[in-house]
Amino acid sequence: MMFPGHFPDVRLRRSRRWDWSRRLVREHILTPSDLILPLFVREGSGDPEPVPSMPEVVRHTVAGVVETARQARDLGIPLVAIFPATDPSLKTPEADEALNPENLVCRTLRALKAELPDLGLMADVALDPYSSHGHDGLVRDGDVANDETVQVLARQAVLQARAGADVIAPSDMMDGRVGAIRKALDAEGFERVIILSYAAKYASAFYGPFRDAVGSKGSLGGASKATYQMDPANGDEALREVALDLGEGADWVMVKPGMPSLDIVRRVKETFATPTFAYQVSGEYAMLHAAAGHGWLDLDAVVLESLTAFKRAGADGVLTYFALRVARLLNR
Ligand code: PBG
Repeated sequence: MMFPGHFPDVRLRRSRRWDWSRRLVREHILTPSDLILPLFVREGSGDPEPVPSMPEVVRHTVAGVVETARQARDLGIPLVAIFPATDPSLKTPEADEALNPENLVCRTLRALKAELPDLGLMADVALDPYSSHGHDGLVRDGDVANDETVQVLARQAVLQARAGADVIAPSDMMDGRVGAIRKALDAEGFERVIILSYAAKYASAFYGPFRDAVGSKGSLGGASKATYQMDPANGDEALREVALDLGEGADWVMVKPGMPSLDIVRRVKETFATPTFAYQVSGEYAMLHAAAGHGWLDLDAVVLESLTAFKRAGADGVLTYFALRVARLLNR
């Protein structure tokens, strides 16, 4: 890059002097249209259940999800992502409940589609909400079996599309799952359903509070997902993951976790020039909230700053548990 001129002819502070001049030269602007809201749903009725490691996040009833999604829609949030906290009695080693067309996530999607037809609905494809061992796939000989799992995931995706999902988001990190899901969706007439692939998903310790929320932490019992999720030490491999998923038919790709992977967001966007999303995951949410709870950080300010950083890194949008809070701030 050429740097024209020198101090004192050049003074970068000139543009920073006024609010109007700062606004005029601002490169990245966050709006509610950049946000995807993850929502947890549980069985039964009554009050929402708090998730202790995620302040202000709850496990909603189906009716509660619909109400909260309506608020999101009214605030201009385009897409909500539904995560089921499956009743432990329904979890099995083969994750059978994943293929039940009456399971919690399918019932929630149908209720949302009926009530809020103009809101985008996203559903995760993976077996961890349903497996008694907490893994994202079927376990054979002490490891998650790739190809057998992919067959189940493709059927799971079709059920979710049939229930009303507009965006299918495989979060399992099996090889070849995007292609299998695309084929299965198309064969059932869902060629317009979007695939948002968790393409570069790292085996991260920042998912801990999410596993509390959906109850998979206990099932996992400290076991690692490192045989399928990526090594956080690798960057080039993330580009290969994205290339494969796009080749198999992914429409959009995601990088996860978010703030620890801003460099990957930038590389993916520059390499593939394709819709790219970042997931500000549960552990990132918990960190910011915990520090703010101690009075050590200004929550609204750090949340806005962190989300703007995703945009600067090249993300088209961000999945964040702060989506409602931020949309309210931005609409003020
Ligand atoms: C499930 C899934 C996880 C997250 C999204 N989908 C957890 C995991 O892979 O163990 C993490 C989200 C978060 O931490 O906010 N496959």
